[in-house]
Amino acid sequence: MKVVSAKDLDVDSVVEYFDDVVVVPTETVYGLAASIYNPHAVGRIFELKNRPRDNPLIVHVSSVKMAEDIVEGPIPEEYRRIMDRFWPGPVSLLFKAKDCVSRVVRGGLDTVAIRIPKSPCLLRIIERLGTPLAAPSANISGRPSPTTVQHVMEDFSNRIGLVVDDGPCSIGVESTVVSLMEGRITVLRPGGVSAEELEEAVESRVDVRSKTGEDGKVLSPGQKYRHYSPTAPLVLFRGETSNIGDAICSYVERGPPALRVGIATHSDLDIGIPPGRASTTVSMGRDKKEICRNLFGCLRSLDKVSDVILVAGVDYEGEGHAIMDRLERAASEVIMVQ
Ligand code: TXA
Ligand code: MG
Repeated sequence: MKVVSAKDLDVDSVVEYFDDVVVVPTETVYGLAASIYNPHAVGRIFELKNRPRDNPLIVHVSSVKMAEDIVEGPIPEEYRRIMDRFWPGPVSLLFKAKDCVSRVVRGGLDTVAIRIPKSPCLLRIIERLGTPLAAPSANISGRPSPTTVQHVMEDFSNRIGLVVDDGPCSIGVESTVVSLMEGRITVLRPGGVSAEELEEAVESRVDVRSKTGEDGKVLSPGQKYRHYSPTAPLVLFRGETSNIGDAICSYVERGPPALRVGIATHSDLDIGIPPGRASTTVSMGRDKKEICRNLFGCLRSLDKVSDVILVAGVDYEGEGHAIMDRLERAASEVIMVQ
């Protein structure tokens, strides 16, 4: 596996590696990228990640024109507003796909999710190739997403030809997946741009349906799978923030003394772990943006030293929605704190 730095990257030198998959940096998480017109490389994405075939890939373009070339019909006004405000950035929009986007990329659906990523280096690569890149997060399906090249190595070691390293991702959680459903902007996966920010851009109410639609149908296939999970069981504490510290503490007291407990805390939450317990505490950050950046890294680092991981949840405002979506999906148990 060759690792090259994104700084002053000679994009001509990476073109040949796109016979296969390449790991690329984005502002959200690292991506495992392939040209949408290379069926071999697209197939390798599913194989390497062990990704279910019905889970479609997000397509990354470097311009609105490149998006228009692969979608049917005019771009709706609501989407225009979102694109003007947030592209390049962490929002993926669902469009009816032209036939040139293979069914494999679409996971068998009629639609394709598209975004312009913010990483200048990735944009230069897409421009040089002249083709959109399909790129899911560069992790084994089900594991926490990768926000550094170290995380990518943990999952794939030497199985990939080229990795472009641009340091830690600046956002740290994936893009918000958005669809226009019955005339309303609907969030199918909370992410780097919050529902509140989208509401401001479109000046109307935004629905969040990250689990299932009204008829119980899964709207975004990725949302039905267990996800983001460390190997150690994760217990999520949610509810009244001021009591979460005590709840975590008494959970530790009740457990067997030999249990190695990893604790992910945030803000100025004080958790007084009983003496004599083997515990490692890390802080995810002081505010939600910082928690987003550190979330996956904290889960991965605690996983190496813990038999169980206890996480202090946050409220659902702003980026809180994306954080809690990841944690709820990763958790084997959720404890409500009054
Ligand atoms: O920030 C991101 O979006 C990152 C970086 C690499 O760009 N990519 C990413 O891809 O998170 P992935 O494959 O890990 O997650 C894609 C999500 C899945 O939940 C998938 O089901 C949903 O987007 N998705 C993709 N295409 C869709 C479609 N046509 N309809 C509904 N959901 C779709
Ligand atoms: Mg993913």
